[in-house]
Amino acid sequence: MDFKLKKKILALAAALSFAAGAFAQGNNYVQNYTKYEGLALTPPMGWNSWNKFACNVDEKMIREIADAMVSSGMKAAGYTYINIDDCWHGDRDSLGFIHPDPKRFPSGMKALTDYVHSKGLKFGIYSDAGSQTCGGRPGSRGYEFQDAMTYAQWGVDYLKYDWCNTEGLKAEGAYKTMTAALRKAGRPVVLSICEWGTDKPWEWGQTVGHLWRTTGDIYNCFDCVKDHGTWKSWGIMQILDQQEGLRQYAGPGRWNDPDMLEVGNGMSVNQDRAHFSMWAMLAAPLIAGNDLRNMSQQTIDILTNREVIAINQDELGIQGFKHSTKDSVQTWYKPLKNGDWAVCFLNRSKTPQKVELNWQTETITDDFAKRELNAKAQPYRIRNIWTKKDQGTTKKALNLVVPAQDVVMFRLSPNAK
Ligand code: GLA
Repeated sequence: MDFKLKKKILALAAALSFAAGAFAQGNNYVQNYTKYEGLALTPPMGWNSWNKFACNVDEKMIREIADAMVSSGMKAAGYTYINIDDCWHGDRDSLGFIHPDPKRFPSGMKALTDYVHSKGLKFGIYSDAGSQTCGGRPGSRGYEFQDAMTYAQWGVDYLKYDWCNTEGLKAEGAYKTMTAALRKAGRPVVLSICEWGTDKPWEWGQTVGHLWRTTGDIYNCFDCVKDHGTWKSWGIMQILDQQEGLRQYAGPGRWNDPDMLEVGNGMSVNQDRAHFSMWAMLAAPLIAGNDLRNMSQQTIDILTNREVIAINQDELGIQGFKHSTKDSVQTWYKPLKNGDWAVCFLNRSKTPQKVELNWQTETITDDFAKRELNAKAQPYRIRNIWTKKDQGTTKKALNLVVPAQDVVMFRLSPNAK
């Protein structure tokens, strides 16, 4: 054979076998950095231990909370996830596997997950992209694949992944490593990116996780900032103001997360109602943060108001927007399926405020959702979703009083006679 041809054939063979080898290896080592699709198509609903219990978590309490989720009617209203936040951890063993604190979780995490699943609920857990969690427990840095495997063995359905002690890490890459680990472990998991909005997770988180915190931690106060020295936590109104400009990033499977609910943790009924309503308008995850075992009827009524929940869970998944502000009353709109709209008047002040609105002369245009609320061309039925009463149509001008630090919230439906 011609020497040159032989050389060419050999080179081709070598290239082919290299490519085949690389391909085979590629199959083994290729990483999938994209989240599980088809999860959290509406904002996740559930409960998390942090706001009320902080580090004081144990298996008995979590079981009781799961029981209460069912007996209180919250499960029937749509709440699904029972999520343990920080401080469930014990140590890593000599092989690096993480174990729960044996004193607080003597039956082990698998038994607890099984219990939660037996109630028809889903189970969530918490870790951190850094060396330690914010509460000083072992973080997942360097153990991502091992931890994801452990969570899959336990039957975990939801992972809140925090951002403390992450020296030298960049958020997008760190979260993608955990996404790849969850993929490798093979169990579909909702990934909650808890990076506090520092590195704009709404810009890169869409393919990586299902929700991303947009702010620092919430504080159980309607309108204040809590200064902890080196960091601050934020009242309900302060968190709300920090959602400005983020609306276009939300949608089915990808939600802005203004942090977990403080309903039932000590604010007034009016403030709790306003907080819950605004989280519904924001298409925010509804993760209760109170003690479900001891709820007042008022707290249950707020958390299980199905008409408010329906606005949050509307399948279009369009986040609401602030349309106008007058005399400390903000008017928010949220387009819903079947041509419906949610309208929420939020009175931020400490005195009752009058609202007048002539639907006939005001047209609301939502360029992002390409929707228009033109009551002159198309009259709407008005349903007050807190009093749960029908309240006429948009043919008549609206005259109402919004109580201090409270809301009046309507669902508008077209084709009014
Ligand atoms: C951070 C998070 C909180 C909570 C704590 C736990 O502050 O933002 O939501 O998870 O850590 O230590």
